[in-house]
Amino acid sequence: MKRKPIKPVLRTAFQTIQKLHLKSYELYQPVIGTNGMIAGTRDCEDRWKSIQEVMRAHDCNSVVDLGCSEGYYVLQSAKSGIGVCMGVDFDLRRIMTCQSQVVLNDIPRASFLISEVTPDLLDAIPKFDAVIFLSVLHHIMYQKGVDHCREIMTRLCRKTGKALIFEMGQSDEHKESWAKDMPDMGSDPHTWIADFLKEAGYSTVEKIGETDAYLRETRRALFKALP
Ligand SMILES: C[S@@+](CC[C@H](N)C(=O)[O-])C[C@H]1O[C@@H](n2cnc3c(N)ncnc32)[C@H](O)[C@@H]1O
Repeated sequence: MKRKPIKPVLRTAFQTIQKLHLKSYELYQPVIGTNGMIAGTRDCEDRWKSIQEVMRAHDCNSVVDLGCSEGYYVLQSAKSGIGVCMGVDFDLRRIMTCQSQVVLNDIPRASFLISEVTPDLLDAIPKFDAVIFLSVLHHIMYQKGVDHCREIMTRLCRKTGKALIFEMGQSDEHKESWAKDMPDMGSDPHTWIADFLKEAGYSTVEKIGETDAYLRETRRALFKALP
């Protein structure tokens, strides 16, 4: 069935509002603007290649991205044909950016939920084949502690149908103001994080890539974990 378009005059008005909105805060991820892609502060292409490889290898047809920011991975997943794609973020500015891209670019099967990532939310959502959880957990960890985060990951494992793609900030990122409030991950933070995921119930944890942390001080690991 043909999707019904927005009235042209309202579409133009919405594009103007989107343009103003995108200038109102710092974008983390690339965004589809009226005249092409607008860069964010983080390059997302390498991680998207890894995510796509994992979703193909495990034949994923649904995905949730927790802390989805501007929705780059949700929109890319929907465009690549994944059946149901959902992003979650508690930042209204970012959700407005996500929604505006869906509507102005007519991207079916992508949806966005305004919510904090909490243990209760993870109990409430259905199981997704793929779960993307990138560069968010450390923000929760230095505010709410390791035990709270272990609870989050334990409940998330129950909702991970096929694979989790995971990355988090590390205690050796000393130039970050939050690093001192993180648990000490020792001299090998990648092993600390892999063990943390296993303790939460993931059966296999594999490092599938690395990216530069802030100011290239250290390297953040990208993990694939299986339930
Ligand atoms: C550093 S950005 C990472 C964005 C994206 N996951 C990526 O790696 O490209 C953190 C994102 O998570 C969101 N966020 C942080 N803590 C959150 C929480 N407790 N619940 C929901 N969203 C959260 C922020 O609003 C932001 O969009």
